[in-house]
This record gives sequence, C-alpha cells and structure tokens, in this order.
Amino acid sequence: MSKDGSVWISIDDREMAYLKVEADKVFGRENFAGTIVWQQRKTRENRALFSYNHEYILVYAKDIKKFKKSRNLLPVDNDFIDNKYKNPDNDPRGPWQSVSASVQAGHAVPSQFYTIVSPTGIEHNPPKGRCWVYNEQRMKTEISLGNIWFGADGSNVPRIKKFLRSAKIGLTPQTLWSDDRYGTTDSAKKHLLNLFPNLEKVFETPKPEELIAQILHIATNEGDLVLDCYAGSGTTLTAAHKTKRHYIGIEIGDETTKLIVDRLNKVIEGEEGGISEIQQWKGGGEFAYFSFDKSPRIDNSLCNAPRTIQKNPVYHQLNLFPLFEEYGEKPFLENEIVREPNSIYYGHHKIEYARNVLISLVKRDNEDIFINRSATLYYTGKKFPSTVAFNKLYYFMPYLKGKGIRDLYIIKVARIGSRKEGQPDENNNDLRLVFEIEFVKQLFTDYKSIDLKIWRTFTDTILSEIIQDPMLND
Ligand SMILES: C[S@@+](CC[C@H](N)C(=O)[O-])C[C@H]1O[C@@H](n2cnc3c(N)ncnc32)[C@H](O)[C@@H]1O
Repeated sequence: MSKDGSVWISIDDREMAYLKVEADKVFGRENFAGTIVWQQRKTRENRALFSYNHEYILVYAKDIKKFKKSRNLLPVDNDFIDNKYKNPDNDPRGPWQSVSASVQAGHAVPSQFYTIVSPTGIEHNPPKGRCWVYNEQRMKTEISLGNIWFGADGSNVPRIKKFLRSAKIGLTPQTLWSDDRYGTTDSAKKHLLNLFPNLEKVFETPKPEELIAQILHIATNEGDLVLDCYAGSGTTLTAAHKTKRHYIGIEIGDETTKLIVDRLNKVIEGEEGGISEIQQWKGGGEFAYFSFDKSPRIDNSLCNAPRTIQKNPVYHQLNLFPLFEEYGEKPFLENEIVREPNSIYYGHHKIEYARNVLISLVKRDNEDIFINRSATLYYTGKKFPSTVAFNKLYYFMPYLKGKGIRDLYIIKVARIGSRKEGQPDENNNDLRLVFEIEFVKQLFTDYKSIDLKIWRTFTDTILSEIIQDPMLND
C-alpha cells in the first residue's frame, strides 16, 4: 500500500466488533480513521427482531497523519462558496469568511490572555473560559496585515479573515451515508440485473457504484491504484474504471470471475447504469485478465470458465508494458517439455486432451517453417486477444492462411520480446508476446479449415474439442 493509502472494509453488525479488534491489531489502533454507517436498505424487514438497515465500513490508514493530509474533501457547489465567502471590505485579496479569534482556554498559555483594542477604541477580552488564538505580538501583526475583522464599523469582537484563495474548499466527509445518495443493496442488484437479465444467482449483497465511487473519491485520485482482493460482482473495479483509477481485482469463483470480465467489457462498451451518468461515462479503456491457478491438476471446469468468456465479442489488447516491467525477458510461462523422441508422449504423460490450444494465424511470408514443422518461435501481433490465462496456454496450432490447421506444437515458453527480435531492425519499444514452440505431432493428414472466432486471428480451445470436432476429423 502507498504511504498515504487506506483500507476500507465493509462488514455487517454481527461481525463488526470482532473485525474491529482484529483490524486494530493489524493496522494499529492509532491508524483507525473511522466507521462509516451506510444505510444499505430502505425497506423494513418486519419478520426480524430489528430490521437491519445499515452496514458498516471500517476505515484504516496505513499512516493516519499522511492519510489525513491526502484524503479528499467532498465537492461543494458555487452557491455554497458564494454564501460563505464575501468581501464586505473590498479586500484586494478577494472574498473571505471570518472565523472566531478565540479558542477554548484548556491548553492556553498566559500570553494568550490580553486585551485587544478595536480601531474605534473598544476593548475586547477573550470570553469566559476562552483565550485568543494568537499571542499579543502575533495578533498585532495580523491586525496590521488586515487579517483581523472588527465588523463594518470597526467595533465588533475581532474575528480572523480566511481567504477563499488559500482555502482548501470542500466538505469533511461525514460518517452517516444515506441510501438516497449512495444507493442500496437493492439498487445494486437492479443495476446487475439490467446488465445481465439472465443472471440466475444475483449476489446477496452487491455494493452500488455510488457507494464505492464515494470511497474512491475520498481515498484516491485519478490514476491511483485500487485493490479489491474479494472482487465479488466487481463493483469496485467498475467504479474504479469509470472514475479513471487503475485497479486490481482478485476473485476465487470461476462464475463470478466470468461475470466480472463480462461486466468490465460492458463498462468499456459504455454501459449506462450506476455512476455512468454522473461521471459522464462514455466507455473506453482496457483491462487484462490473468488466471493464477498453479495447480498441476487438470480441471475441466477451470478450463471451461475462461473459454465461456469467448462468447463476449469484445476483447482488449493486453498491455504488455507492465508485463515487461515485471518479467523483463524472463518467461512468465514455462511448460514441461521432457519429450521422448518421435512419440506423442511428454515424459510419462500422454498428450493431454484437456489442455488449452491456441490457434494462431501465420503470415504468408512465414509459412514455410510452419509447413516443414521446423518453427521454434511465434511472435504475436501487437494485439493478443486470447482469453486463456497465460499459465493455462499449453499447445499451439499454426493456422495457415487459406489452408487451416494441421500440426500440434507445445508452447515451451511464453515471454515478452520485441518486434524483429535479434534482427538489426529490432524495435525494443514495440513489445510482442513471444512463444517458444516445439513441434509435437501432426494431428490431421491434411490442413483443415477452422472458424477463427476472435478477430479472425486467434482462437482458444482445448485439444479434445479439436480432435472431436466432426468437421475436422479425418
Ligand atoms: C462479498 S463478495 C465481495 C464484494 C465486493 N468486494 C464488493 O464490494 O462488491 C466476496 C467475494 O470474495 C470472494 N472470495 C472469497 N475468498 C476469496 C479468496 N481467498 N480469494 C479471492 N476471492 C475470494 C468470493 O468468491 C466472493 O465473490
């Protein structure tokens, strides 16, 4: 977390007390920033002992002092400013408001008790139990600088002038967040059902975008990084996307992950619900999707999840630069390749039919090495619209223009490289995905054409589907 970062945890009444104690231990009691009470339900639950209409959001800072400085105030409208800041003495420094020049005397020192004489000669002493905010010397300086106001006729109790031009204008966030402004669980459900009318299981407690946007406004600025490590229906991510924050979402459920991906795709297309209107959201942006399942076990249900995502026609270019920063030229995928010569076995494993196969178009000028099966490298184009997570990419089948697919390769290594790598006209700034591949087996006696679904250049599938496809069988 950044030094001025904060953690916002939503929790209901049952667990609130326990979480508070645990979170105090983790973040330190001194870094507890406050508890928001969010009115998450409008209706009354008559069957219950108490109708619970609120949830809590516990807020902790990494460093409370830094967070206090960096957190944003809530916006105010111009009327609010005009009402508060006036300029009755035509001060060339512009409009100002006055605040009390006295404070409670609890921690006062003797030099804060003295008599102030107004320009018209009226004597003022601090009210009972209070002292002047400045000592006498400082007060004299402030008066000479025109920073103290004695009213229009120069006789009133002195007050301090605070100028609009140096004010940090905005409202301090309050801790009670109403359903009208920040939405309810029901309004969040409605938003989800509008986006996905066939959604069978609607999340129990989705958050409205308005609520998350408010948190993001207070705690972050455009371009900041937001993490939701239990992404659920993805509201934090969509709100972050629409408010121009970077974001990382982590979600364990396959179906839920698919929903998040579909939802983000809709946001990119310009989805109009939630905070879209207030943010004047018109679509755009991109995201990358990674699966970090490192399990060696082949789980068809896991393979199925990303593949069903293919049904959505929108795919986004992966941003290769962060990957390059993270991995450099080191592989981010390395598949097992202990292969017995001239056999269809890898080590002790048979060809694995449940593995993902990436079918990729080969340009005419590269065809020869793929026809004679000697290809060892494959560079993707600028865009890589595969929907299979990198660590699940396994096989590779070149698609030759006008011919189709025939040969099976294994992807030994996937890494970031650059265009025309190793050649004199290599362009280091033009990043590409590079697959180091090795021929495994000729799957069909002749080339078979196949429908390349994604942008007509790539498709993801699993080997068994290729082999079982009646259109493809010999
Ligand atoms: C209540 S939802 C989160 C709601 C979401 N943060 C929001 O504000 O709308 C909790 C989610 O965390 C996911 N989850 C639970 N344990 C997880 C884990 N260890 N790693 C990643 N996600 C997990 C669940 O699948 C569920 O979708």
